[in-house]
Amino acid sequence: MSDGLEDVVAANTVMSEVDGQRGVLIIRGHSLDELAGATRFEDLVRTLFDGFFEALPADLAPALGAARAEVFSEVAALDPGLLDLTQVEAMRALTARLPDGDDLATALRLIAAPAVFTAAVVRAHQGQAPVAPDPALSHAADALRMISGRVPAKAQSDALDTYLVTVSDHGLNASTFAARVIASTRAGLTSAVLGGISALKGPLHGGAPGPVIEMLDEIGEPANARAWIEQALARGDRLMGFGHRVYRVRDPRADALKAAVRRLDDGSNARPGRIAFAEAVEAAALAILKEHKPNRPLDTNVEFYTALLLEALDFPPSAFTCVFAMGRVAGWIAHAREQVAGGRLIRPQSVYVGPAPLKAA
Ligand code: ACO
Repeated sequence: MSDGLEDVVAANTVMSEVDGQRGVLIIRGHSLDELAGATRFEDLVRTLFDGFFEALPADLAPALGAARAEVFSEVAALDPGLLDLTQVEAMRALTARLPDGDDLATALRLIAAPAVFTAAVVRAHQGQAPVAPDPALSHAADALRMISGRVPAKAQSDALDTYLVTVSDHGLNASTFAARVIASTRAGLTSAVLGGISALKGPLHGGAPGPVIEMLDEIGEPANARAWIEQALARGDRLMGFGHRVYRVRDPRADALKAAVRRLDDGSNARPGRIAFAEAVEAAALAILKEHKPNRPLDTNVEFYTALLLEALDFPPSAFTCVFAMGRVAGWIAHAREQVAGGRLIRPQSVYVGPAPLKAA
């Protein structure tokens, strides 16, 4: 048995390759370096979907805009009880209202859903009415506009595009595996995406960036970093934004996102000094983790600079996991289609280690 299925190969995929030794990510034949900062999210979605849906339009943007307008009707019935849930749970509950299916229309509604529902939930938490989508805007620009009520500057929508593309797919991570298991039963894309959201929200996966902000805020200034980190590790806590199951070197997504925060900083959108402070905390964390686990390479993962980028884009930390889902939903759907196209029911074995029955069978 492999604990945590480490090193177990459970699928062939054309979607992405994660090279954990070299720190390289390839998404459908393109390196992350080529894609991040140069590709609109809707174009990346089209690339991921290519060959897995019939009659895929050359430009997905108009159909995706229409899908945002379509799913917005669910927001009208926003149940006040949803506000007692965490924001990702509320977004998941709204997504669960969408019909199941396997076609492109279902897929586009599911791509639209996290953007539309996250904005509505964030605004409801702030006591504000939802903002209807503008189907003519890009997905990233509309996602920001539906939260703030204002069309964002190009630098901001470009930064969100960079983020969504960077996290769109990443091999057989926990949420994608969950989505593939569900798809393998032929349950439908909505069911697969709901499973993906559920796996993503855990703090060891997509729930990490919110706590990164808490860590930075508690540390407050670089001089406090070492003592804070040592105390956290002495308590047995894990440092959020560090370590990875596959990468033994720096996660390439960390640098793609750090570059995006820097570009925003030039547009005077980030908090002054925030990047330099985060770099100081990162350097202290890496040095201490080396002493703490000399035999386990622990480096910066995607979540550390995710936190900085989403903060600079004015997303509240309580919504960070929802924003992760806005990007990763593309990968979940593409993998689900790939699983159905060529894969059998996923049904592994377990080894029984419980007591034997008193009466022999
Ligand atoms: N801080 C402190 N110690 C750590 C960290 C960390 N961030 N990550 C791993 N370790 C330690 C573990 O405590 C463990 O020590 P032990 O052998 O004494 O028990 C050892 O390193 C190996 O850790 P595992 O749990 O076996 O590694 P695994 O591959 O299962 O974990 C994971 C990967 C879950 C990402 C882990 O590094 C972690 O918890 N990181 C913090 C949470 C985080 O940032 N998650 C986001 C990951 S990226 C993503 O999912 C999008």
